Amino acid sequence: MSDRTFSIIGAGRLGRTLGRILVEQGYEPMGVTSRTLRTARQAVAFIGGGEPGTSNARGAARGNLVLITTPDGAIAPLARDLAASRLTWSRRVVAHTSGALSSTALEALARQGARTASIHPLASVADPRTSLAALKGSPFAIEGDPAAVSVLRKLVLGLGGVPVTIPRQAKVLYHLVACLLSNDLVALLSLGLDAARGLGLSRRDAARLYVPLVRGTVENVARLGPVKALTGPVSRGDVTTLRLHGEALRTLPPDLRRLHRILALRSTALALEARTITPETAVQLARLLSALP
Ligand SMILES: NC(=O)c1ccc[n+]([C@@H]2O[C@H](COP(=O)([O-])OP(=O)(O)OC[C@H]3O[C@@H](n4cnc5c(N)ncnc54)[C@H](OP(=O)(O)O)[C@@H]3O)[C@@H](O)[C@H]2O)c1
Repeated sequence: MSDRTFSIIGAGRLGRTLGRILVEQGYEPMGVTSRTLRTARQAVAFIGGGEPGTSNARGAARGNLVLITTPDGAIAPLARDLAASRLTWSRRVVAHTSGALSSTALEALARQGARTASIHPLASVADPRTSLAALKGSPFAIEGDPAAVSVLRKLVLGLGGVPVTIPRQAKVLYHLVACLLSNDLVALLSLGLDAARGLGLSRRDAARLYVPLVRGTVENVARLGPVKALTGPVSRGDVTTLRLHGEALRTLPPDLRRLHRILALRSTALALEARTITPETAVQLARLLSALP
C-alpha cells in the first residue's frame, strides 16, 4: 500500500470535491463508498479514480488515509461498524470532516489503534464543480491524534490551504460561529431581498441591485474591522432618516422588524465605539429604535 493511498466514505459534495483535489495532488484513490452505488459511481467519475462500492469496510481496507465525509449523525455509528470489522487499524489515519464534532466521534477506531482526527474545511461546498478552487485555498480546522494532525497539516499545506488548530473542546463553538457568520447571513439576505418585493423587484433582480453593496461591506469588515466598517444612518446619528425608516418598516414582516431593531441597536454600540456619535445621541437612537413598530 503506497503512503499516499486514500479512501472516501460518504461520496457526497465534500467527499467528491476533496477526492478530486487529492488526486490532483498525486494521492491515489482506493475505495469510494456511499449508501447507494449510484452516488459512489458518480463520485468516482468526478474524482477521476477509485473503486465505487457500498461496503464501507471494504472501501476503507486499502486506504492509508480514510476520510469520512458522511453527514455528522452517521460518523460515530460508522466508526463503531468499522472498528468491529476485521481490518487492521494501527498506523492508519482516519479523519472525519464535521465542523461541530471532534475526533472523539472516532473513539471506537482509536481504540483499535487508528490515528484519528477531524479536519473541517471552513468553506461552503454547494456544487463540487464550482467549489474546487475555493476549497483548495480555504482554512482547515484540524484536531486529534498528533500523528494524524501532522499528516493532515502536510496534506492541507500541499493543496494550498491554511491549517488551523482548534482545541477539541472548542469545536462546537467554532462551528456555531461559522453558522452565525455564513448560514445566518444567508437567512438575513433572503429577508432583505424579499423586502425588496415592495419595489417590484424579484429576488434575482434585488440580488443584482444589492449584492455588490453586500460584497463591499464584507470586504470593508475584513479590511477595517466592524467598528470602522460601519456606515449608514445609525453611524451618523441621523435621527430624521431613522424616523422615515420607521414608517417603511410598518410594511415589513414582524420577524424582519424585530431583527432590524436588534441589529440597529448593535450598530449604535459600534458607532459609539467608533466615536461617530456621542453618548447622548446613542441614548436618543436607542429610544427611537426601541419604539420602532
Ligand atoms: N458541503 C460543505 O460545504 C461542507 C463543508 C465543510 C464540512 N462539511 C462536512 O462534510 C460532511 C458531509 O457533508 P456534505 O455536504 O458533503 O454532505 P452530502 O452532500 O449530503 O454527502 C454525504 C454523503 O454521505 C453518504 N452517506 C450517508 N450515510 C452514509 C453511511 N452510513 N455510509 C456511507 N455513506 C453515507 C450519502 O450517500 P448517499 O447519497 O449514497 O445516500 C451522501 O452522499 C458533513 O460532516 C459536513 O458537516 C461539509
